[in-house]
Amino acid sequence: MTHRLSDLVTREDIDRVTSPNGTLHRLPGVAFRSEEFLALEFRRWLSRTWLFVGRGADIPNPGDGTTVPGLPVFLVRGRDGKIRAFLNACRHRGHRILKEPCQAKRLFVCPYHSWSYDLEGRLVRTPHMAGADRHELEGLDKTDYGLKPVRCEQWHDWIFINLSGEAEPLKDFVAPIAERLSFVDFGRLKHFLTMSRRPIEANWKVCVENTMEPYHLPFVHAKTAAGQPLDQHYSISEDPIFGSGIEVPGSVYTNEHGAGGLDNLDMSAHYLLRAPNFFLTSYAPDVIVDTMYVPDQRDPRKCWLEQAWYTTSGREVTAAEIAEWESLEEAVMIEDVTVMAEVQAGAETAVVDDGGVLSPVWETCIHGFYRHLIERLDD
Ligand code: FES
Repeated sequence: MTHRLSDLVTREDIDRVTSPNGTLHRLPGVAFRSEEFLALEFRRWLSRTWLFVGRGADIPNPGDGTTVPGLPVFLVRGRDGKIRAFLNACRHRGHRILKEPCQAKRLFVCPYHSWSYDLEGRLVRTPHMAGADRHELEGLDKTDYGLKPVRCEQWHDWIFINLSGEAEPLKDFVAPIAERLSFVDFGRLKHFLTMSRRPIEANWKVCVENTMEPYHLPFVHAKTAAGQPLDQHYSISEDPIFGSGIEVPGSVYTNEHGAGGLDNLDMSAHYLLRAPNFFLTSYAPDVIVDTMYVPDQRDPRKCWLEQAWYTTSGREVTAAEIAEWESLEEAVMIEDVTVMAEVQAGAETAVVDDGGVLSPVWETCIHGFYRHLIERLDD
């Protein structure tokens, strides 16, 4: 059965978010645990817009490829240097083509019956299809059976897909975040670290909430964000940009930074989401981090996380500094992953059937994000 938003939540639930009467609420608990709600999100929103799914630095050479976690899609860099996306299924009987990242492939060979595709997705071999040692089947035009392409474009290093093919041009989609970060010189991005993907035992929106709001910092990141006092933070809700910022006077982190000083997030920062899933965090003076949460299309209680680091000044980063970032962010992420899973556990109870209450100071970003979501899902 195909569900509408009003089949899954009451009008009162919707109005509580969109027309707050003095108190801000988030979405009702069903939005975090229902397969039908997830299917509706994909049908009405996530398939129709751009999803952030990878970065060029991780597949730098022709023939390098990677799966998109949570979605039946893989990415590959072609001989022409262009990155393409394909549905991850063979045109014979649908076996998955790519299971894990790969390097320098010349062909993608289906593990089941060895149908083979080139880097541009063309079907080039159908072994024994017409009988033993008879590889060409009369009437089977290979040009009709290439891999199914998915619309895919890049903005700087970041790779986006649009499953429906009907989204606005990518440059228009990213324009609001480019403008919000107009002080960043994106032309000088230099990738220096990708932290490997991991599954998160929580709905993707639980993770988005946590990454946007600063309210939890003194409690969850008491040490790792000790240099970011809560009273210096502010919430940002500028549809379609949501998040928070902080100005830290006298930050110790500078682009002369060496080893030994980066033990907490003691720096001015902007944590910005371009809805639905493109997070950029800019750390003064010259580091930017992307955070990718990809919803798992088959499981509302799960999503996938990857993060990558860049300098925006074009400078090289020392091995010691990379190690410090990796260690600090691993600690921060473990703290975050723990609370995300616990929030998901709470979403299984009736306690959050009314969504829960949001701070009008620190969590307006969450509230704005849910208004944005409802506008896209509502009938
Ligand atoms: Fe791929 Fe048969 S399913 S070759």
